[in-house]
Amino acid sequence: MRNHSITRTLNKIVTENAPLPASALVESESQARAEPRKRIHLASPIIDAEMKAAAVAALENEMMVMGESVFKFEEEFAKYCGTKYAVSTASGTAALSITFQALHVGHGNEVITTPFSFIATANSIVHAGADPVFADVEDSGMNLSPHKTRAKIGSKTRALMPVHLYGHPFRIDEFHDLAAESGLSLIEDACQAHGAEFRGRKVGSIGDAGCFSFYPAKNMTVGGDGGIITTNDEELADVARSIRDCGRDKNSKYYHGRIGFTSRLNTVNAAIGRIQLKRLEAWNEARRRISEQYRKELENVPDIILPPLEESFEKAVYHLFVIRTKFRDQVKKRLADNGIETGIHYPRPIHLQAPYREKYGYAEGAFPLSESLSNEVLSLPMYPTLAQDEVVRVCEALKKSLVA
Ligand SMILES: Cc1ncc(COP(=O)(O)O)c(C=O)c1O
Repeated sequence: MRNHSITRTLNKIVTENAPLPASALVESESQARAEPRKRIHLASPIIDAEMKAAAVAALENEMMVMGESVFKFEEEFAKYCGTKYAVSTASGTAALSITFQALHVGHGNEVITTPFSFIATANSIVHAGADPVFADVEDSGMNLSPHKTRAKIGSKTRALMPVHLYGHPFRIDEFHDLAAESGLSLIEDACQAHGAEFRGRKVGSIGDAGCFSFYPAKNMTVGGDGGIITTNDEELADVARSIRDCGRDKNSKYYHGRIGFTSRLNTVNAAIGRIQLKRLEAWNEARRRISEQYRKELENVPDIILPPLEESFEKAVYHLFVIRTKFRDQVKKRLADNGIETGIHYPRPIHLQAPYREKYGYAEGAFPLSESLSNEVLSLPMYPTLAQDEVVRVCEALKKSLVA
């Protein structure tokens, strides 16, 4: 079983277009006393009537694999991100790994990335046959540090892969310059950042490629696992299309120019994704409003650190709203006792996960900032239909949970 402990705790799927937080209901005091309080989930994907209808129509009218919806979704996603091409895949991990393979990053090569991410970030490098090399996060912030990355560049380095963690863009300018001056590829792990912007451009459109996940708790889903690669590089797109489809040559059924995978996005999922994409901007705006409310409610609370503020040229999409506190475990438990789900993204940095310790010999202390983040981060409930009064309830419970 996969364990994305955080985002994997999902509310029952909302089945109709649910109202956004502005239309939140206010619970009367007597109601609150009489009824047990509603559980507040960490994440809550939305599958509405239009998405269900699109899924059924795709099943009835299209080929189940590589149907028309797949190509339309790819076209629409590329347009949304401002890239020439988008190639859908069976997951975000597959999108990343296929991108490396399409760029011929493999055995004997190294890719520099962050140890403070979901493990799939590094796994995708290993799947491609290359070795991940970690650099620590910024001194203040949670994304990969450009100058710590620079110090790790060596003769085997072929690519840099920072992550737009929690939906907050990494320092794209600096990584772009670093990759260009060192002759390296820049891959954006945008699996948590659909729609985030940097200097007016969508993430996923600035590096050589961007890779997104559609796992249900992400800012948009396809109603199951899925992923997509965005790029302006025609050759990369062509090779990725072949790799995700058993290594097939273009327009051929049984001629295979390379060893590929069965790693396509199913038609029914693409049909759902097309409708989700239409909602994404409104959902992201709702997430940004909720994050503003959290900031206001929590701004002067001692013992917590709020997520980094955006620079004027950045637009974060708050896949997660992650605070830091030394009292994390106490707070988490007390919120759970109050019916409020929280998450820890991530309790163990990648270099300290068993396969990475074993294969690369990492031990505690290798990346101190990532390690202390792992002990302190706490993700608060965050999804577009989270109501204003629910945010107030989370914040009140959070303040009380910090009192000894
Ligand atoms: C930062 C990051 N990278 C990669 C992935 C892998 O995506 P998937 O779960 O779709 O394979 C995820 C998703 O969980 C992620 O959050």
